Amino acid sequence: MDIKSIILAAGKGTRMKSNTPKVLHKIMDKTLLGYVLDNVKNIADESFVIVGHHAEEVEKFLGENYKNAKAVLQSPQLGTGDAVSKACPFLKDYKGLVLILCGDTPLITEKTLKEFIEFHKMQKSDLTVMSAIFDNPTNYGRIIREKDDSLKCIVEEKDATPEQKAVKEINAGIYCLDWAKISPAFNQLTSNNAQGEYYLTDIIEWGKKNKLSVNAYTLKNNEEIFGINSRLHLAEATKIMNKRKLVELMENGVTIVDPDSTWISEDTEIGKDTIIYPSTYLEGKNKIGENCKIGPFAHFRGGVEVADNVKIGNFVEVKKSKINSNTNAGHLSYIGDSEIGEHVNIGAGTITANYNPITKVKSKTILHDNVKIGSNAVLVAPVELQEWVNVGAGSVITKNVEKNSLALTRSPLRVIKDWVKNLNN
Ligand code: UD1
Ligand code: CA
Repeated sequence: MDIKSIILAAGKGTRMKSNTPKVLHKIMDKTLLGYVLDNVKNIADESFVIVGHHAEEVEKFLGENYKNAKAVLQSPQLGTGDAVSKACPFLKDYKGLVLILCGDTPLITEKTLKEFIEFHKMQKSDLTVMSAIFDNPTNYGRIIREKDDSLKCIVEEKDATPEQKAVKEINAGIYCLDWAKISPAFNQLTSNNAQGEYYLTDIIEWGKKNKLSVNAYTLKNNEEIFGINSRLHLAEATKIMNKRKLVELMENGVTIVDPDSTWISEDTEIGKDTIIYPSTYLEGKNKIGENCKIGPFAHFRGGVEVADNVKIGNFVEVKKSKINSNTNAGHLSYIGDSEIGEHVNIGAGTITANYNPITKVKSKTILHDNVKIGSNAVLVAPVELQEWVNVGAGSVITKNVEKNSLALTRSPLRVIKDWVKNLNN
């Protein structure tokens, strides 16, 4: 696999009106940039992310989450062509393909990118640009073709003549290039245009002038190049992403009772015959087995692994926990940083107290097979309950408990006879 990717992410994202860099805004707990990087992770062995605004934050994010992605600084931001040129020093003797993408276009799929690259190879292309047909092409670069339909150039909205503005074929902003042949273009681009920027799009004309093979691949589903520029766009993209996921799950044998009120992240896997009840919100990375019942009103916050035949009921929040088969947590619970065995029953209102707000330390709760927790119990972590332990309702468990024991913290019940009757005497 000799493919590398360059992801443009230096722009400001003014319309987000945010202190967070645009590409670090999230859809279902995953950043926009994360989606793009995950889409290329099976395609490119290395990615260069061009950063500028809030560069340190994006660089830190990459360092912590994407080891084969490198942040490359572009400062000042002189246009998309200038952005790509910043990766040149890292690709000096590179002979393979380079895929160029934008960090704010999370809906593009791995499948489409693979088809795009396949097209590039089949056409024996040196440079392939992704195009799309839009009823309203405003603000996009227009694909201008010769009389014989071959590519001529891309013209930006601000530089376009009225006839060019009428063209409905637009530049999606995704490119595949034979690096050795096309990269010389990057120190020959000029900023002689309406925006005074170095346009990446000028490589089309450059390629033509240099007698290289330049082609366009037309996207089938326009949704995939939806770019995020505002909070409204973010919400729209979340809806599209969610719908796509729910359809995929249903096609694979998962029942979604009410797709309109159910939110499931791209990185949540669910086994067949599992039923997801309404108003369930599953964000981050999760894995759910077969024949489970989740919700209504369940919330998974990521890092959750649930085996088969598990029931997670209403108002149960689960985070970073492993729950083994045939276990139930039916109502009103918080389960965090826990490992829970098979055939465990978690009574209504049970809380794992996993976080010490003074030391800021998070600790683990371990419940072995067949443990039964009575309602309204608090399990103060770190704590481990061996097999068959029973916890009485209302107990606060602060120590490990041995196998087969009943653990109970409860002041004895007092019954004062005729208390009400005697009140008035
Ligand atoms: C660009 C294309 C346009 C295309 C559209 C698709 C150019 C000149 N135009 O326009 O033909 O239809 O994308 O969405 O390429 N960026 C940098 N450094 C810069 C400038 C931009 O990293 O100096 C990044 C931005 O963060 C963004 C991407 O490049 O992720 C695209 O930039 P943007 O300003 O949105 O390009 P458009 O004007 O929309
Ligand atoms: Ca722009």
